[in-house]
Amino acid sequence: MPEADLFHTMQNMRAMRRLKSDPVPDDLIREILRAGIAAPNGSNRQEWGFLVITDPEVKRQVQAYYARAFEDIVKPHYLSASTPSGMTDSQYRRQLELVEHLTLNFHEAPAWIVACRNDGERQNRAAGAGIYPAVQNMLLAARALGLGATLTTRHTNYQAECDAIFGLPEGVHSFAILPIGYPIGRFGPTRRGPMSEVVFGNRWGEPAPFPLDD
Ligand SMILES: Cc1cc2nc3c(=O)[nH]c(=O)nc-3n(C[C@H](O)[C@H](O)[C@H](O)COP(=O)(O)O)c2cc1C
Repeated sequence: MPEADLFHTMQNMRAMRRLKSDPVPDDLIREILRAGIAAPNGSNRQEWGFLVITDPEVKRQVQAYYARAFEDIVKPHYLSASTPSGMTDSQYRRQLELVEHLTLNFHEAPAWIVACRNDGERQNRAAGAGIYPAVQNMLLAARALGLGATLTTRHTNYQAECDAIFGLPEGVHSFAILPIGYPIGRFGPTRRGPMSEVVFGNRWGEPAPFPLDD
């Protein structure tokens, strides 16, 4: 039987970039972490670690790099890129405003969870696969608990600097920072393009073998 709550949660889990400063109870953060640690991972070796960051100084130092990457990389990209499928121009502009809001207030989120992985110096496409299922579980858990969060990876543009601030040992890297807090504003449906743009049958570009609900 489909679990209606889970499907609803997945369809209504927009990035929540505006957060209240009220602290998040430890019990809820613990619940989110428990959901993360339940995720699939390679051979169940659990080569991961999760930092719960509440220290304003740590957050402030990392936010400086996060903001620098916004000015250098993200903003120019947004301003030159076309509007993504499934969004109107004004929704895309609004998203940029919210991305900028989170950038300026990144360190004000009451709690961060930093998802880390002990991947040594392996650099391949599968590196993130060992940690992002846990990240997605934590986003779903936060949403189910009425908390807002955003999957962010921009700090990895300054990977070495941020990992040093987090005090990560050799071979351990941070893959995502989830700023978590009580939401300002409403949750809402995610905006994506039609299924027919991305679902194919047998070979790329050929129609799916069943009707799509576009
Ligand atoms: C790998 C990855 C990295 C992301 N990094 C950031 C980030 O650094 N800052 C941010 O505001 N959003 C970040 N996002 C969130 C996306 O911008 C967001 O999921 C996308 O715009 C779709 O919006 P929605 O999730 O609200 O539907 C990231 C998402 C992914 C999958």
